[in-house]
Amino acid sequence: MTDLNKVLSPFTFPVSGIEINNRVAMAPMTTFSGNADGTVSDDEITYYRERNKGAGLLITACAYVLPQGKGFHGQIGADKDDMIPSLRRIAEALKENGGKAVLQIHHSGRMSPVEEVPNGQPVSASAVAAAREGAPTPRELTGKEIEEIINAYGEAARRAIEAEFDGVEIHGANTYLIQQFFSPHSNRRTDKWGGSLKKRMTFPLAVTDKVLDVVKTNAKHPFLVGYRISPEEIENPGITIEDTLVLAEALSKKKLDYLHVSTMDFWGASLLNADDKKPRTLIVLEEVGNSIPIIGVGGISTPEQAEKVLETGISIVAMGREILIEPHWAEKIQKGYVNEIETALDIKNQAGLNIPTPLWNSLLTRTGWLPLKE
Ligand SMILES: Cc1cc2nc3c(=O)[nH]c(=O)nc-3n(C[C@H](O)[C@H](O)[C@H](O)COP(=O)(O)O)c2cc1C
Repeated sequence: MTDLNKVLSPFTFPVSGIEINNRVAMAPMTTFSGNADGTVSDDEITYYRERNKGAGLLITACAYVLPQGKGFHGQIGADKDDMIPSLRRIAEALKENGGKAVLQIHHSGRMSPVEEVPNGQPVSASAVAAAREGAPTPRELTGKEIEEIINAYGEAARRAIEAEFDGVEIHGANTYLIQQFFSPHSNRRTDKWGGSLKKRMTFPLAVTDKVLDVVKTNAKHPFLVGYRISPEEIENPGITIEDTLVLAEALSKKKLDYLHVSTMDFWGASLLNADDKKPRTLIVLEEVGNSIPIIGVGGISTPEQAEKVLETGISIVAMGREILIEPHWAEKIQKGYVNEIETALDIKNQAGLNIPTPLWNSLLTRTGWLPLKE
């Protein structure tokens, strides 16, 4: 068996100085299980508590920064100060065994379901619908509204600080609003927020600056800021790896603690060209890995697979589906129970795994979404 020196080695984030005691992160995962008012439900708290030894870095489900940015039924909110007690419950549940808790902050933009947003009207950089069946056409945001959204990300970060999180992750990936501003598919603006590649970076970088500024002014304890990107888009026009490297370079110059490259398959080829087999995350690593730690994710489940990813120079391995299946992932390695790590979802054990019912149902109804143990 490979020795797991890398997985079990501690890591110190370069800007905040926050230390985690292994190289494993729980990837952000929406649970569809929050209360209707955007507060966290008791079932979600139980779910987080079950997983708080599963990884050194524990990233929450994405939380909307404004009601107009809500992306899912049952999503948690970070949009007003009334949410701070709810956020604090999550932070406490995640931190009680020494893990570090990070709130993912998010705005869905044109990906919002119409029934989840005020007036049934999703918004985006431009009035261009997503390229999927039945997608609504969003309303183009005004310059004033864009400034308000940037502030809302800052306010959500302030609430995370007050709720005693250890950090926030800016959700710049997975086709949501920040990515919509970066993408030539969804951003057709001709003002300062769109046009050239450089101008399409204005919004992502403004959100980053705002969050970093709020953290600098408000954090009284070490507090990290990470940023999640998607390296490519399937749309044409869409984001290419060349575009992403320019953004990654700009982000690597900011006081960010990490860049999290969102892929469904870490070792997978380009989404745009199957012959281009180099993992996208490794391309980003080569470009900016000397300036900023990189988190890799996608299809990793066994300790050997995690170790292999870390051997490439990736700082932290994130796992989503595997930590649903095996909530005690890192703890089992630390205690020497490597052979007991589950890699398929025990469909008879919802109660033991403490997965809230809406999330559980979504896992079982999506074919091929994760391995099942009947
Ligand atoms: C149920 C579920 C919910 C997810 N919700 C989020 C989310 O809120 N924010 C996000 O950035 N990614 C989200 N993702 C993507 C994961 O963070 C991760 O990138 C993806 O699942 C690939 O990693 P994995 O193969 O380890 O699951 C979600 C994935 C799943 C399975």
